[in-house]
Amino acid sequence: MSERSVTPTGVAKATQKARRGRTAPRRLLPEAELEVLIRARYPIIYVVSWEEERVERCLRQIAEKREKKLFIWTITQGIVKSGAEPQRTRTGGTNTSDPLAALDAVIEHVDPAIFLFKDFHPFMDDNRCNISVVRRLRDVAYHLRDTYKSLVVVAPMMRIAPELSKDVTVIEFGLPQPEDFNRLLDRIIEDVKDRPNIRINLDAEARERLLHAARGLTLKEAENVFAKTLVLDGKLDADDVSVVFSEKQQIIKKSGLLEYYEANESFSHVAGLDNLKEWFRKRRVAFTERASRFGLPAPRGVMLLGVQGCGKSLCAKAVASLWNLPLLRFDIGRMFSSLVGSSEENIRRAIQTAESVAPAILWIDEIDKALAGATGSAGSDAGTSARVFGTLLTWLSEKTSAVFVICTANDISHLPPELLRKGRLDEIFFVDLPTLPERIEIFRIHLAKRGRDPSRFDLETLARLSDGFSGAEIEEAIISALFDAFSNQSELDTETIRRNLQETVPLSKTMSEEMNRLRSWAMGRARPATGTQVRQPEEVGRKIEL
Ligand SMILES: Nc1ncnc2c1ncn2[C@@H]1O[C@H](COP(=O)(O)OP(=O)(O)OP(=O)(O)O)[C@@H](O)[C@H]1O
Ligand SMILES: [Mg+2]
Repeated sequence: MSERSVTPTGVAKATQKARRGRTAPRRLLPEAELEVLIRARYPIIYVVSWEEERVERCLRQIAEKREKKLFIWTITQGIVKSGAEPQRTRTGGTNTSDPLAALDAVIEHVDPAIFLFKDFHPFMDDNRCNISVVRRLRDVAYHLRDTYKSLVVVAPMMRIAPELSKDVTVIEFGLPQPEDFNRLLDRIIEDVKDRPNIRINLDAEARERLLHAARGLTLKEAENVFAKTLVLDGKLDADDVSVVFSEKQQIIKKSGLLEYYEANESFSHVAGLDNLKEWFRKRRVAFTERASRFGLPAPRGVMLLGVQGCGKSLCAKAVASLWNLPLLRFDIGRMFSSLVGSSEENIRRAIQTAESVAPAILWIDEIDKALAGATGSAGSDAGTSARVFGTLLTWLSEKTSAVFVICTANDISHLPPELLRKGRLDEIFFVDLPTLPERIEIFRIHLAKRGRDPSRFDLETLARLSDGFSGAEIEEAIISALFDAFSNQSELDTETIRRNLQETVPLSKTMSEEMNRLRSWAMGRARPATGTQVRQPEEVGRKIEL
């Protein structure tokens, strides 16, 4: 591959490099990189960015410095000189809104110039209809090599037909850096400081939290959201973090593939699992500036593997509130449905969206079910599943963005071993059926949640009777006892819950073989989520007489 070009396969690396630029100050900023590429006369540069204005501003500066003219192409106006009235400045008076006509105009133009093409990515896509534009672009690339002209395409996502891969150079204009938000905030505070009805109450910590929450927004979005908080309540303080989050929620909703979860579960609602909780607590500050200055790498992700109903999904939600990060649930099953476009494109888009709101938690729930096809079973399109899975794996191992991944699964037989290999995720936790003290705690939590005083119940007896029950089954027994009490017009008591436990056949009994298999697999391979040893397989299925 020539040094000048970036093939689609090389794009991930280029993207990674571009992202590294965000953290490693020694690397060129994208603005500087763009100037270098123009000076080195790279003919076609593809800038991946949501911030057209920022790219345009940067090109205007480069054009001034290099004494070139800047022209902008849009599908509605054709080629227009930057900063001029559209009608009067069409090059040569011809209508250049047609992509082919626009490319011809670029070739015919004589003086040194930079052409910024907006909205051009649909014409560069790998699509048969684009064949003439792709051909013409290759001609442009050839022609521009010996001129002082450059063609820059700006688009929020990367869409390049493989035929163009040798002629196009990709750079990613990452989202704004913390310093950019810092400056923005300073400017806003300066603007409003003399207004009597506006209060700014930001100490160093509140300020860092606010700036941290804004990461992932464009500068314009951040400016809008800061302005919105001022308009809403006339103040700017630590509480406004939630307003910033709601702005991020908008971005996620618009993507359609990810679901935004409100962080309203906390670890105080999760009984036991102390190893797992401790692991997450230690990494609480992992995505802060302070931690990265200290030299801590951003954690990559975990796999929560385990028995149904034992709190895996609950933990994913609790981590989000502990870390104060947006939780994005990726519906991997929905992604495979033919209704929402190609699965590979979808996973790429979901990853991009998660990265665009980073720092965030990407929660891939029940990954085993969706990936069943990747190992060739389940009669699904194994090829598609394998490619989707490959995209996910590559991203996981190359990822430098602050997106923490939580995968949950309860069946290892469908999980390709590559996912569990070190380097992809930080840790695999095995979440087993709750131990006796954990069950006591689960009863306590769920009774209290339903407005009952746990001290009025014989928790120890209930916990002993529920050996082999999952947290979800205990919760179910309490709910169904509540129904009994309600219909009998009595108050909930230990006896009613006891009866309901007795009537339940826990999954651990009906699925004991599967659970034993999982448990044996986990031993030595996964870390127990609970501080005690993983239960011995033979212990399961042994039920005390009720
Ligand atoms: N350790 C626990 N502490 C408190 N509640 C629990 C615990 N484990 C399970 N529960 C209760 O059971 C419910 C279901 O648990 P959750 O959905 O997290 O299970 P899961 O492990 O994700 O199961 P699955 O594998 O079926 O997805 C929770 O919402 C919670 O109310
Ligand atoms: Mg779950």
